[in-house]
Amino acid sequence: MDVRNLTGKTALVTGAASGIGKQSALAFGRRGADLVICDIDEAGLADTEKELRGIGRQVQSSRVDVADRDAMQAFAADIHQQIGSVDLLMNNAGVALGGRFLETSLEDWDWILGINLRGVIHGCHFFVPKMKEAGRGGHVVNVSSAAGYLPGSVLNAYVTTKYAVLGLSEALSTELAPHGIGVTALCPGIIDTPITRNARLRGALDTDEMRDQMVSQYGKRGYGPERVAENLLKAIQSNRTVAPISPEAWIGYGLKRLAPGLVRWLGARGERNALKNSGS
Ligand SMILES: NC(=O)c1ccc[n+]([C@@H]2O[C@H](COP(=O)([O-])OP(=O)(O)OC[C@H]3O[C@@H](n4cnc5c(N)ncnc54)[C@H](O)[C@@H]3O)[C@@H](O)[C@H]2O)c1
Repeated sequence: MDVRNLTGKTALVTGAASGIGKQSALAFGRRGADLVICDIDEAGLADTEKELRGIGRQVQSSRVDVADRDAMQAFAADIHQQIGSVDLLMNNAGVALGGRFLETSLEDWDWILGINLRGVIHGCHFFVPKMKEAGRGGHVVNVSSAAGYLPGSVLNAYVTTKYAVLGLSEALSTELAPHGIGVTALCPGIIDTPITRNARLRGALDTDEMRDQMVSQYGKRGYGPERVAENLLKAIQSNRTVAPISPEAWIGYGLKRLAPGLVRWLGARGERNALKNSGS
């Protein structure tokens, strides 16, 4: 999809109240697109809407939980009735869960699978058919992660959802290519957003010190969501199916392809060190 000038196009972004979703909505808006945005955080959504209107864009803003199938179906019906099919669909809403498999409850699994995986499936299921029907081509961005190809043991459930989103996107890109619809799995890296503040933490990670340490590490890394949004535009322009963004995401991607044994060895070493430090 040519994103150099999005005037006359409509972009939909889920989870647009904060972080990568908000900055991507603004980046699409600056290129001329009108926006459909949703989130469960109404105050944040109102701020994003105000900023988009400030740059002259039309905005449809709704409180929608992407994990709620009925709500997503009603949202899609409403958008299709009011403005027709969208041109750019970004399934971005997501949450994080730090914890190993043996520390993750089934309730945690339901929560993260509902948002990170079923949320993406709902977005594609309810919006892609109309994109195809409209025959104008377009683009779908599904937000995966470097954890979509690097299996960190302390992020087991998160890794599971992000691997699944990567696989879904790769398969979908083949299916939609004949219709002129590109698909990108966005794999950002370590990005300084509120996701670390809001993540569920389990096991040894579940302490105030560990959370503060994680928030501070992401802050010190200093790679902001506005840079992700700028690089996402380049990835859509060049129709990249898998789009690592920050340098560490690229390094991980290269290592996984060229030296998967090294990636497994580093993971096992990290796990041994963590066990030693916890005295288990
Ligand atoms: N920050 C990072 O380092 C990083 C790295 C890789 C991937 N990601 C992914 O990027 C995406 C955006 O994350 P972010 O870092 O901008 O975090 P963020 O917390 O700033 O933004 C996530 C947004 O999703 C919304 N959301 C959460 N649950 C929702 C639901 N059920 N329905 C609708 N909206 C919901 C939140 O309210 C929030 O506004 C996520 O999918 C995340 O997994 C982030």
